[in-house]
Parts: sequence; C-alpha cells; structure tokens
Amino acid sequence: MTRGILVLHGPNLDQLGRREPARYGRDTLEVIDARLVARGAARGWDVRTFQSNWEGALVDQVHGSAARGLLVNAAGLTHTSVVLRDALLAAGRPFVEVHLTNVHAREPFRHRSLLADVAVGVVCGFGALGYELALDGLIAALEGAEG
Ligand code: DQA
Repeated sequence: MTRGILVLHGPNLDQLGRREPARYGRDTLEVIDARLVARGAARGWDVRTFQSNWEGALVDQVHGSAARGLLVNAAGLTHTSVVLRDALLAAGRPFVEVHLTNVHAREPFRHRSLLADVAVGVVCGFGALGYELALDGLIAALEGAEG
C-alpha cells in the first residue's frame, strides 16, 4: 500500500448511533467510515477502517498494516492501554488521536491519554466531524513529510 491510511476504532464504537446519542451523536460508524474513505480517496489516499472491542485485535491490525499513517480513536483503551501505545511506537508511523467528545471536559480518568504524547496531534470534542478534521491533519502531515 503506497498511500494508505488505517483508521482504528476501539471498544464500543461499533455502537455509535445507538450508544448515548446525546453524547456521541447519531452517526453510525459505517457512515463515519464511508465519509473517511471518500474524503481520503478524493485526496489520493486509500483509507481502510477497522473496529474491534478487543485490545489484541487492534494491536494485530497495527502490526499487520502497511499504512503510512493512522487515525486512532482507541475509546476507553486510550486511558489504559500500554500495549496499544507500544504497538503504535513499534510501527513507527505517524498517527492522530481522535475522540468524538471533549475528554478533558469529562471525568478525570479520561483526561489522561497513553497515546497523546506520541501522536502527531489530537482532535477531540467535535463529534463525528473530528474524524474528518483529524484525517485532514494526518494527510497534511504525511504529505508534508513527502516534501
Ligand atoms: C471516546 C472517549 C473515551 O473516553 C470513551 O471511553 C469512548 C469514546 C470519544 O470518542 O469521545 O469510548 O474515545
């Protein structure tokens, strides 16, 4: 994959659209993914998406991917997962952390991210739009690195 981007969605994000819609919005993950694939394609990027409720499955995706960069909403694993952090560090590819909600305006345990300090950037609080903003930011970073 020459110009590939992998979008990783963590636990419970398969429930988007049904899960606490007042907080997370009504867009389903399928709708969000389709927008990202189309937005990436319009810019010449092959966007693939993957969701799992299993930490190890997300780690396997990171290891197995030849993508040049990643968008990562690790959901609750953001706040706990040393292994996902280690996988992303091992992959050595730039990634943008994204959250639908403003995690800093929520419970204190959501203020800590084990990914943010090794991410290119973090987008949170803009709902589903945040994924598109994060994709634009990631593409800018990848294309900037291309020179
Ligand atoms: C989330 C924020 C996390 O704290 C939470 O566990 C989620 C979703 C977000 O997109 O706002 O599952 O990552």
